[in-house]
Amino acid sequence: MWPDKRAIDLFKVELPIIQAPMAGAALSDMVIAVSDAGGLGSLPCALLSFDQARSELGIIRQKTSRPINVNFFCHQQPAEDPVREMRWRRRLDGYYIELGLDNNSRGQTANRAPFDHKMCDLVAEFHPEVVSFHFGLPDKNLLARVRETGAKILSSATTVDEARWLEDQGCDAIIAQGYEAGGHSGMFLKRDVATQIGTMALVPQVADAVKVPVIAAGGIADARGIVAAFALGAAAVQIGTAYLLCPEAKISPIHRQALRKVKDNETAVTNVFTGRPARGIVNRLIREVGPMSDDAPEFPLAAAGLLPLRSKSEAAGSRDFTPLWSGQAARLSRELPAAQLTTQLAKETLEKLRSIGTRSAG
Ligand SMILES: Cc1cc2nc3c(=O)[nH]c(=O)nc-3n(C[C@H](O)[C@H](O)[C@H](O)COP(=O)(O)O)c2cc1C
Repeated sequence: MWPDKRAIDLFKVELPIIQAPMAGAALSDMVIAVSDAGGLGSLPCALLSFDQARSELGIIRQKTSRPINVNFFCHQQPAEDPVREMRWRRRLDGYYIELGLDNNSRGQTANRAPFDHKMCDLVAEFHPEVVSFHFGLPDKNLLARVRETGAKILSSATTVDEARWLEDQGCDAIIAQGYEAGGHSGMFLKRDVATQIGTMALVPQVADAVKVPVIAAGGIADARGIVAAFALGAAAVQIGTAYLLCPEAKISPIHRQALRKVKDNETAVTNVFTGRPARGIVNRLIREVGPMSDDAPEFPLAAAGLLPLRSKSEAAGSRDFTPLWSGQAARLSRELPAAQLTTQLAKETLEKLRSIGTRSAG
């Protein structure tokens, strides 16, 4: 028996396990596998075009009737800042020369567009049971449109203030995302990385501050973490990094290899890849330019200057300029298909809860 059924009842799922939306790493096959296993599969749309998102949603709805989560970024598109852009160019110049690249061959950050009315049309067309956002919430009109579809609305909080703000805007549940988490931090009220809070400290404080169910995220990768999340007041967990070694994860061989070897102290929160703080495995760019750089243009503009460096170095088998997103608990990951990982996590959590109960009773 699960110790808290609020999230299970809210999402109408069997297991309180959400496969984290992971832009660039999860597509329809992972969502279907997790949702069919009884968890909540999540389709990240931040890096998908409208047509790609529509096609993925079509596949999902064709193959499973289980509840799903569809996820969007909702940052403000930044204004051009030519001075900062130039500083970033100068900062990367040496690498362009080293790799024999033309400094004017910058890439385009065509996607990572914030949630808009067009994407909202997809929500209205496919009626995902859950819609989650990262970096706060979209504007009131868009949020009202999402609500009209009947979807439950979630977003990530990295502080108690953010959690209260999200609850005030009407979120049905709040993801308390700790500093351990892989990928982008959802922080949106402040941008101070130095004061970010770990999952262990964040979850109970958020659970005390809001009435809606809290979903713990960040550094949770096995039954011990899930049991701990319940003990801290969470009603479900959102797990990202642990799903990255599943065969369904659409990550590059370089990323997969790095995840297989990464140690607990080899990740860092950095803004050098996109302009926003995100946790990844430390590589040359993070070491030499970051982890945090004032020169990096605002999210998502920093990424454009890196694309040529990344493609050239990756082609030569190097990970120097590749974002290798990972949380701090990557070493706990197991290489299992996503459905099996979901059912194993659930089974092992229930066993652990039983064994703790038996021990304390004895
Ligand atoms: C590769 C990767 C990509 C991510 N992309 C997204 C995303 O598109 N949307 C989102 O809300 N969260 C994203 N996240 C954050 C996760 O939702 C979640 O907070 C995090 O994975 C939890 O920590 P863990 O990785 O230690 O399990 C991403 C995380 C990773 C590792």
